Amino acid sequence: MKPKVLVARAVFPETLELLRAHFHVVSNQDDHIWTPEELRSRAAGMQGVFTTGSERIDAAILDACPELRICANMAVGFNNFDVPAMTAKGVLATNTPDVLTETTADFGFALMMATARRMAESEHFLRAGHWDRWRFDMFAGTEVHGSTLGIIGMGRIGQGIAKRAAHGFGMRVIYHNRSRLSADLESACKATYVSKEELLSTADHVMLVVPYSAESHHTIGAKELGSMKPSATLVNIARGGIVDDAALAQALASGQLAAAGLDVFEGEPKVHPSLLKLKNVVLTPHIASATIKTRMAMAQLAADNLIAYLTQGKAITPLNPQVIKS
Ligand code: GLV
Repeated sequence: MKPKVLVARAVFPETLELLRAHFHVVSNQDDHIWTPEELRSRAAGMQGVFTTGSERIDAAILDACPELRICANMAVGFNNFDVPAMTAKGVLATNTPDVLTETTADFGFALMMATARRMAESEHFLRAGHWDRWRFDMFAGTEVHGSTLGIIGMGRIGQGIAKRAAHGFGMRVIYHNRSRLSADLESACKATYVSKEELLSTADHVMLVVPYSAESHHTIGAKELGSMKPSATLVNIARGGIVDDAALAQALASGQLAAAGLDVFEGEPKVHPSLLKLKNVVLTPHIASATIKTRMAMAQLAADNLIAYLTQGKAITPLNPQVIKS
């Protein structure tokens, strides 16, 4: 009998077709957002679940689904997984690293440019019919080329952004990370390791690419915002909760910080109401990896993990490989 797999959100038809060749599939192509209870009841009796970052896999669902063997996340971030609880229950967790690195780095760079050069604000102005003349200081923003970029979180995506900045835009790149990169990687990225304090007080643009965890919660709060240059910009493409959005809205409103670009939000898809009122923030709906090619590669990798594990006991990108029996 084919193993049973739940696909918890809408996916590409090609992904469903691939999964159906190996599994009995229950899908959610209407893209209902299930409550945790609904997810639990649908996952009961399944051997695999295809998740996205919005489905929480924790002890409650694991207890309700003793037949579950693998949850494959279509995301590189996996803060929706309680990996220790999954490991304790022998459930494999997988994510989708590498396939989205360059696409996400492109977006981080684009969001920094849009923020520094006030692209969203000026576009809204034009669409609203307010443009009646050229002016010497109209939407004058902050320089990108030749300025200093501070990257917090120097994993694969952070390194991709550093290379674009240093090699393409002649930026000086400084970074802060839990562990320092090897000399070879630092030299490939032309990046200098500094303390978080030095990064915040020196950078013209701060980019957040750090994974979310209890430790990285509110990496940027009122105190950190207070130590940045008033002319600086802040970009978050990592996860909501890494920035204290209420404190950020205050800093942007008071002029303590020039501008911000946010692709992720605390409690998304809700956005802090004060951010919505501000002109000096560019807001995008968690789309940093969203190109068709990359989203298809992410879906394929998540599906391939389900197929490899449930048909051959193998995994391609496991987060807790210790549960795989040799
Ligand atoms: C998107 O946010 C991801 O983690 O892939």
